[in-house]
Amino acid sequence: MKLEKIAPFGRSLEEYRKIFSLSGDDLEKNIVGVGDGPASFNAEMSALGKTVISIDPLYSLQPHEIEERFYSVVDDIIAQVEATPHDWVWSYHKSPEHLKDNRTAALRCFIADYEAGKAEGRYILGELPSLDFAHGKFQLAVCSHFLFLYSEHLTYGFHLSSVLEMLRIAHEVRIFPLLTLMLEVSPYVQPLILELESRGVIVSVESVEYELQRGGNKMLRIQHFS
Ligand SMILES: C[S@@+](CC[C@H](N)C(=O)[O-])C[C@H]1O[C@@H](n2cnc3c(N)ncnc32)[C@H](O)[C@@H]1O
Repeated sequence: MKLEKIAPFGRSLEEYRKIFSLSGDDLEKNIVGVGDGPASFNAEMSALGKTVISIDPLYSLQPHEIEERFYSVVDDIIAQVEATPHDWVWSYHKSPEHLKDNRTAALRCFIADYEAGKAEGRYILGELPSLDFAHGKFQLAVCSHFLFLYSEHLTYGFHLSSVLEMLRIAHEVRIFPLLTLMLEVSPYVQPLILELESRGVIVSVESVEYELQRGGNKMLRIQHFS
């Protein structure tokens, strides 16, 4: 898949649960979603009484502007998916049309919660590689479909600084997927693992129960020694 810009596509709580292997205990944690964009993760978690703060540069926009950005790219992206049928695994989403329906549903759920969530401080404008939070404020930071996926758009230095920044504000960081838009393991994954290990951080690559990009069923888990 080729994208000029980072797509304002969002996933649901159920997808985040699978993508990050979130356990019942994990859901009770103080979580920051970095680059959450129009995911419905925060809206659905908040409705269940859980604690999530989402950070994204997109949150400078009005709701209708976020909707416009989504609807301006969704058909092109679904057309690219339809044109490359062997690149996708239809286990969670059943077809390109179902994928579009699920992304649209996540957007609607997010938009319905956006103004209230902003007022409650759950959607906060911010961007990697610098986050305006104290050391260790969160138990868990998750970053879905931003780092590694857009390796053609973002440098290795950006990835390293971003991961170190998430590790500064959270005890544990999980990142998914490890593939680029071209379905190759990001060239940054291995150097990043070596760099983090040399800094005394625990790093593991783990299989998860979610695969849409063919071969994209791995998550990176990064933890401080406690
Ligand atoms: C493909 S979307 C993924 C949204 C969500 N994480 C999900 O998986 O459903 C990528 C998100 O990364 C956000 N983004 C772009 N630049 C960023 C940055 N420097 N720091 C954090 N997020 C950024 C975009 O605004 C967009 O919302």
